[in-house]
Amino acid sequence: MALPLRSLSPAPPDPILGLSEAFKADTRPDKVNLSVGVYIDETGVTPVIPSVQEAERRLLERAGSKGYLPIDGRPAFKSAVRDLVFGADSEIVQSGRSVTAQTPGGTGALRVAADFLLQTGSSKTIWLSEPTWPNHPQLFSIAGFALRTYPYLDDSGRGVDVGKMLGALRSAAPGDVVLLHGSCHNPSGVDPDQDTWAAIGEIVVERELLPVVDFAYQGFGFGLREDADWLSGLAQPGQEFLVCTSYSKNFALYNERVGALTIVAADPLRAASALSHVKIAIRSNYSNPPAHGADIVETILNDPALRAQWEVDLAGMRNRILGNRAALVDALVAANVPGNWEPIRRQRGMFALLGLSAEQVARLRDEFGVYVVGRGRINVAGFTAANLPLVVVAVKSVIEG
Ligand code: LMR
Repeated sequence: MALPLRSLSPAPPDPILGLSEAFKADTRPDKVNLSVGVYIDETGVTPVIPSVQEAERRLLERAGSKGYLPIDGRPAFKSAVRDLVFGADSEIVQSGRSVTAQTPGGTGALRVAADFLLQTGSSKTIWLSEPTWPNHPQLFSIAGFALRTYPYLDDSGRGVDVGKMLGALRSAAPGDVVLLHGSCHNPSGVDPDQDTWAAIGEIVVERELLPVVDFAYQGFGFGLREDADWLSGLAQPGQEFLVCTSYSKNFALYNERVGALTIVAADPLRAASALSHVKIAIRSNYSNPPAHGADIVETILNDPALRAQWEVDLAGMRNRILGNRAALVDALVAANVPGNWEPIRRQRGMFALLGLSAEQVARLRDEFGVYVVGRGRINVAGFTAANLPLVVVAVKSVIEG
């Protein structure tokens, strides 16, 4: 019998990471990469931030061991990240009704969540925002979920269509899983306001839905606590949900693959039971997590001086992105580029959606060497004083046709 490999045709490149490969192969000197969501400083570099440098220095000095970590990761890491998400004084932390597993990145957390849910008999239907991060549909469908979508953006593409979003969520069946972006919606940068979070929370309770919150950008929007405002809608006493966190962005630890899955259950006993099943999902997938990135995060979060330095580092990244938002809007308006740009100034996180057609995105790449994702998702951190004027000329040209 022939190997199945013989009849395989090549798969398409990844819609985000595949662009980085194409960008690397592009020999034009003035090319601009606004595709993958990595922080880039004003010199065009993704730096190792000072708090991470210091933590790594301390880790090197410590007599370490390369023995296996527990399946669900190190306890001090797990409690530190739980405090970061919910706040150490929060009801969720104080009641002990949440459990955390350290995972390889936020993507690892999502995949473990998917496996855990299917393995423990959850609904096999997951609702995703339209649009969403392209890896969400791929990851959840390969894990075994049937995909449904809820409309997210209004016609302008600059705000949440609250009526349509809530209407779709009301039509979900009891037990269905709903994926929500905690903050810094990817790809749009458009987040629900407090009232909308409250309404989402009510529907989740009424319809008995199970939220999975993808919370990959804490601190990249308006601040560590500000970006956790979704909790006011979802973290009601007794309410159950899952949170997938990433430390790629807020610690700039992209290639260390550090993240966490936290399950909030109705009570501590159910939480402990959930963790026993999460451990099976992990053990049967990658056995136990890598250590170094989590060691860095744990070292920083558990040392007051390093934690203070990290908050300064994080504010620096956040403020540069906010400054880039303003510079982009100012430049598009000054150049009379047709479009509704002003709301981009107040959006949250790394991304903004230009709202382009596939042809316009292709022209940006082919004619101008400007790489953006999907329908014009840009990494706002990717602008520098040098490349912003080139991008504005390119965007104007493709929009004006
Ligand atoms: C992105 O959306 O660009 C980032 O989350 C990186 C990734 O893994 O896709």
